[in-house]
Amino acid sequence: MTTPGSVYEAIGGMPTFRKIVSGFYAQVPDDDILGPMYPEDDMAGAEERLAWFLSQYWGGPPLFNENRGAPRMRLRHAKFPIDMAAHDRWLELMKNSLDQIDEETLPQAYRQMIWQHMNQLAGMLINKAP
Ligand code: HEM
Repeated sequence: MTTPGSVYEAIGGMPTFRKIVSGFYAQVPDDDILGPMYPEDDMAGAEERLAWFLSQYWGGPPLFNENRGAPRMRLRHAKFPIDMAAHDRWLELMKNSLDQIDEETLPQAYRQMIWQHMNQLAGMLINKAP
């Protein structure tokens, strides 16, 4: 069940979302802020969950809901200390990943939509001062 005319379809479906998340997670284990927050024995699982979420959001099959239930992102992130530094770092690693994907696979207009949504959501997940 994929939404016709969706961003998901336009950018080639799951393989492109897999690229986005694998480039991000490749950097996480060695990151001084994010590394300690993520489950070192389940990085493949974490990668899968983010791919499910993003692909579902952009019109792909509802894999996140099927496997994890309602997104409730703020609640799911409540157990992690997300301050401005963690927010900035998450976006920085994600930007690095997006920058590795060529223009043909991820055209500028879609890249911007995805990036904007990530920024918006990251801002909502901050749960710790400063
Ligand atoms: C603001 C900085 C952020 C931090 C520090 C952060 C940190 C984390 C951590 C430590 C996990 C647990 C990994 C796992 O076991 O799945 C997680 C899960 C997750 N994050 Fe984030 N995250 C951030 C922003 C975002 C953003 C912007 C998105 C979406 C665009 C996102 C989507 C997800 C999803 C879908 C999961 C899996 C939730 C689940 O299935 O329970 N996160 N995040």
